[in-house]
Amino acid sequence: MDPQKPPKKRIAVIPGDGIGQEVIPQALKVIQATGAEVELSEFDWSADRYLRDQVTVPSDGFAMLGRNFDAILVGAFGDPRVKTNIHAKEILLGMRFKMDLYANVRPVRLLDAELCPLKDIEPEDIDFVVLRENTEGVYTDAGGVFKQGTPDEIATQEDINTRKGVERIIRYAFKYCEEHTKVDGSRRNTVLMCDKSNAMTHAGGLWQRVFKEVSGEYPQIAAQHMYVDALCMHMVRAPRQFDVIVTNNMFGDIITDLAAGLQGGLGMAASGNIHPGKTSMFEPVHGSAPPIAGKNAANPLGAILTAGMMLAHLGLAKEAEKIDTAVLESVRQKRTTQDIGGSLGTREAGEWVANLVNHS
Ligand code: NAI
Ligand code: MG
Repeated sequence: MDPQKPPKKRIAVIPGDGIGQEVIPQALKVIQATGAEVELSEFDWSADRYLRDQVTVPSDGFAMLGRNFDAILVGAFGDPRVKTNIHAKEILLGMRFKMDLYANVRPVRLLDAELCPLKDIEPEDIDFVVLRENTEGVYTDAGGVFKQGTPDEIATQEDINTRKGVERIIRYAFKYCEEHTKVDGSRRNTVLMCDKSNAMTHAGGLWQRVFKEVSGEYPQIAAQHMYVDALCMHMVRAPRQFDVIVTNNMFGDIITDLAAGLQGGLGMAASGNIHPGKTSMFEPVHGSAPPIAGKNAANPLGAILTAGMMLAHLGLAKEAEKIDTAVLESVRQKRTTQDIGGSLGTREAGEWVANLVNHS
């Protein structure tokens, strides 16, 4: 090994189910085209594996990922043959919860005006990021049912909010705002907290108090607040106003699908599941899309942009930039899949981007 050269970044790759198995190979092709110094290791955690040998996550699986890898690239999980979706829950939520990847980072950028269903919206009007709390809230699945199957049935679903959990995601948001610029190079300067504290007063009260406290430490950053219902309305009426949005697990899940709609649909949306200093996981926002799986029709750009985000996180900024530039060009030239107006298949769209990266 050349002692001058930094060690290769070790990346665990888990394509998963459905279109995950189609888009991830395209993302890998593009990563390799950048010339990034990476070592890729693939894992078959998926519905197929679960149906074959009943294993969702091999024992020591998460600890192994944390020990042996710098980052994890994931496709999607969900298969109609696994009705309970148990493998998806154990693999995906397992990674988020057990590896404590508390910040779900979802950049929302419009690459081309044509991709936006709203009228009179230009790319510079949509460039914000949603930071979703990723380890608590209603997704901990705490609660239970009582008197099931009777007219007196009761179901409870607890919304878990810890002081530590709320504080670290809010701090992450202010730090993110401080450290990241918009695509046009201008500074980010506003953090907006989204909740439903008028109706959900206990959890909302905690978020409100912590937000006030932490925002006080960042006088140079404007602190704003919106109820989640109002935010949905503003997101389609005036998306330009948004910069950095921080919210809980469920609201983050919902508003990021809405936001994906603004940027051209689920096929375009990228995300990271991050715990600073730990092995973090990157995945396109979409699921396994059973209706289009196996047809070479899925848009690979969400997965490719996710790969770019992962490389940037690993400190490979030049390589990440090559990916972003090539994706932008493919959208401009409509060398894309049908969902965003092109006529290429998944493989061909991936190859087009990889080729451009190769020549950049
Ligand atoms: P989905 O994101 O898989 O697909 C919804 C629809 O959006 C698709 O039918 C397709 O028309 C379109 N779509 C999604 N990704 C696309 C792409 N890359 N290119 C073109 N069109 C695309 O969400 P859905 O249908 O709610 O869930 C399907 C399965 O995926 C379920 O089993 C669900 O649990 C799972 N899922 C997994 C996620 C994950 O692994 N992170 C996230 C969301 C759902
Ligand atoms: Mg979702």
